Amino acid sequence: MNSAEPITKPVSLKVPALRQMKADGMRITASTAYDSTFGSLLDRSGIDVVLVGDSLGMVVLGERHTLSVSMDDMVHHTRAVSRGVQRALLVADMPFASYPDPATAFRNAARLISEGRASMVKLEGDGHVFESVRYLTDREIPVCAHIGMTPQSIHRFGGFRLQGKSDETAAKIRSAAIAAEAAGAEMLVLECVPASLAVDVTASVSIPVIGIGAGIACDGQILVSYDLLGFTTGRRPRFVKNFLAGRDSAEAAVRAYVDDVRNGLFPTLDNSY
Ligand code: KIV
Repeated sequence: MNSAEPITKPVSLKVPALRQMKADGMRITASTAYDSTFGSLLDRSGIDVVLVGDSLGMVVLGERHTLSVSMDDMVHHTRAVSRGVQRALLVADMPFASYPDPATAFRNAARLISEGRASMVKLEGDGHVFESVRYLTDREIPVCAHIGMTPQSIHRFGGFRLQGKSDETAAKIRSAAIAAEAAGAEMLVLECVPASLAVDVTASVSIPVIGIGAGIACDGQILVSYDLLGFTTGRRPRFVKNFLAGRDSAEAAVRAYVDDVRNGLFPTLDNSY
């Protein structure tokens, strides 16, 4: 390399910056990738967090839910995405049944960090899951907790259904957010809950709350990349918006999503419950 050339490697987003972004009122933008091309697209379009979601099972592998995604699937795709990501924080989902107890959770999470090259792992659910969150965070594995409508619980929920509608379930979700932070989680995904509940949850914790179908009050938003590019098949949930409509490139669509989230223009009331 010519020593006169400027070093242009972008400054990457690190885990400790997340809380600061919340404290500074900077909305966090997030989307999903399953391969290096999408990882690179999201990264150069200014996304802060790239999640290798177990939505992989539905949008890439054609399953009806996320439950058949394996650890090997997640490691393989996380490593692929990592090759395309330079600036964004790379988060990988722990798939269904990969964290039944803290020691198993640690073994599996460590694979996503060391083989997959993720910087953080995401675990769905509450109750006993927070024991694993504590175990991982005590052992240098940053965790994002995922509460509300957790797709790995669809059999118990009876489908992909709005959660937290009754006072009792809303209180349970509020307590889960507080327990996740107490267990050491650095970030929270809050999925498909009434926007009014998301206001409370976001105010209850100092870690950033990233909403999907949870209204505008969250500290950031996540949308599955295939949804934001208009590839949604079947019924389109109301929180999904096709940002490619009226634009001529995938990069322009992702940039529009990033701008709208940062400026508080997405989600609108029409995208909320
Ligand atoms: O798997 C996934 O894509 C997710 C997001 C929808 C938050 O968990």
